[in-house]
Amino acid sequence: MIITTAAFKGGVGKTTTAIHMAAFLQQDGDTLLVDGDPNRSATRWSKRGAGFLFKVVSEQQAAKYGRSFKHIVIDTQARPEREDLQDLVDGCDLLILPTTPDVLSLDALMQTVNLMKVLGSQQYRVLLTRVPSAPRKDGAEARELLVTAGFPLFKAQIRELVAFQKAALDGLIVAQVNDRRAKIAWSDYLSVGQEILNG
Ligand SMILES: Nc1ncnc2c1ncn2[C@@H]1O[C@H](COP(=O)(O)OP(=O)(O)O)[C@@H](O)[C@H]1O
Ligand SMILES: [Mg+2]
Repeated sequence: MIITTAAFKGGVGKTTTAIHMAAFLQQDGDTLLVDGDPNRSATRWSKRGAGFLFKVVSEQQAAKYGRSFKHIVIDTQARPEREDLQDLVDGCDLLILPTTPDVLSLDALMQTVNLMKVLGSQQYRVLLTRVPSAPRKDGAEARELLVTAGFPLFKAQIRELVAFQKAALDGLIVAQVNDRRAKIAWSDYLSVGQEILNG
């Protein structure tokens, strides 16, 4: 399976999602994470720790490594051009569009989804990330907006948890972080993975 993360906006969890989807798929077979962001955030994340079970390579190395892996996850930079988006869609089985539940991010997401409609693609799903906990209603409100707009949306969503920032800082997967909510954080991405595998 080839999964790509993309969004018009930065800071919405593309790299965090790519890293954790790679960790999820690795449980099923050898997984390659292709770092398609010139900023190399995924590569730098992996180098801050002891490394991951999955392999992280640059876009330039992808052709060489791609054939020996069961799964590939591709992390991309913010602001893909229209042509880029077409290529991204053609190059994967599923495009994950992460969005945070705030106006700027949702607005950028609308642009992306409109473009997906122009491209005639159905191979994408929106993932709500960094959803603040109750009593804040941002997550529920964003979900309602997206469902009303008819966007394909993961039932699972990712909570806003400091464990994710610790993971990035220490070069770890969130499940490995020393934080009392690390397991909950990981369970959010597990739910996303299971939703993908169950179709
Ligand atoms: N669920 C989350 N909870 C808390 N912080 C998060 C979460 N997901 C991502 N972050 C943090 O938000 C910032 C942006 O995330 P990142 O995955 O790098 O986004 P992008 O790749 O879209 O720019 C990072 O500092 C990251 O640690
Ligand atoms: Mg990124």
